[in-house]
Amino acid sequence: MANFDDAITRRATGSLKWDRRPDLNPLWVADMDFTSPPAVIEALQKRLDHGVFGYAIPHPSLIETLISYLDRRIGAQVSEEEIIHLGGLVPALSLGASAFGSPGDAAMTCTPVYPPFLGVHRDAEMELQAVDHCLVEDSWSFDWEAMEKTVTARTKIFILSNPANPLGRVFTAAEITQLAEFCERHDLILLSDEIHCDLILDEKKTPHFSALNLPEELRKRTITLLAPSKTYNIAGLGYAFAVIPDENVRKRFNSAKGHTLPEINCLAYYAAEAAYRDGEPWRQDLIAYLTKNRDLLTETLRKELPGIAIPEIEATYLAWIDCRPAGIESPMQKAEKAGLFLSDGTFFGHRGCVRMNFGTQTARLQEALDIFIQAVRS
Ligand SMILES: Cc1ncc(COP(=O)(O)O)c(C=O)c1O
Repeated sequence: MANFDDAITRRATGSLKWDRRPDLNPLWVADMDFTSPPAVIEALQKRLDHGVFGYAIPHPSLIETLISYLDRRIGAQVSEEEIIHLGGLVPALSLGASAFGSPGDAAMTCTPVYPPFLGVHRDAEMELQAVDHCLVEDSWSFDWEAMEKTVTARTKIFILSNPANPLGRVFTAAEITQLAEFCERHDLILLSDEIHCDLILDEKKTPHFSALNLPEELRKRTITLLAPSKTYNIAGLGYAFAVIPDENVRKRFNSAKGHTLPEINCLAYYAAEAAYRDGEPWRQDLIAYLTKNRDLLTETLRKELPGIAIPEIEATYLAWIDCRPAGIESPMQKAEKAGLFLSDGTFFGHRGCVRMNFGTQTARLQEALDIFIQAVRS
């Protein structure tokens, strides 16, 4: 069993998370303080030992692994030509905007959401239509009425985070189907970012329903974006892929690339293959550890800070902490003053909230929670 309790020094390793603000204790950007699965490290080592790092293409056993992963984990039968390899998922969101929008068109998304969702429209000189998620029976869902009021003939794409960063929601089959029907009715392309789909904490209770699981007539206007980077902690290697079932949509997406994207890292292909092919036992251990951390975080904060709101975290290692009910306008400032580096809710579209990354050692999380509680009370 992987030992997630081992603390690894990450300071002064060129880590975005740890070295951007060396004066603070970081629980912000979405990477975890764990080493990757041994199978990934071995695959990288083997590729490194070869010693030649020229331009790379996806090798056959990677493609086989991706196709088998999509079948096994998502229940989708995908062919090789439907897969587009990318050096990251955010560039794919930007490509999606450029491929289907023109200046003056609009991109819709629901907030709070991963900050680049609120920025990629600019790459295509589009406008942004950000509609707030709303609470339905204590669970964050879509505000269908507000979305219908906001959508116009110039809206071209909808950008979805499922499971949702930062809300931790795993949207149901009914919600995703209703969203796809909304896209069909208004002629939108659905960009479905499912990077967190292997970080669902209880898959029996909240199973993943992918855009690839939609019926064919709805699926044809979808672009599903996936990556091993969050689950296996290899975001720094840069690899993601899109699955685009419809040939015309695929052509448009590919043609938007122009010469803007670099070649994909030759090591990243091998890490992705090992993660998806051999990483499952490690992933199971990870989910058990994250579940324990999630329970510690939600139970502690709900007990100690009853004024703040924390949604049920169904997926990811990210906790959305809404301090507005307690009348705290800038929890980020309070946390920072106490020495913690969290993610500021403002960038996700909601002031008065912070996001805390609990993909770290339980002892470190406990310490950070104690500091956060004192900071909020002060
Ligand atoms: C929803 C979501 N999409 C995309 C990304 C980043 O993807 P990439 O590093 O491949 O650009 C993240 C990282 O946190 C994320 O949470």
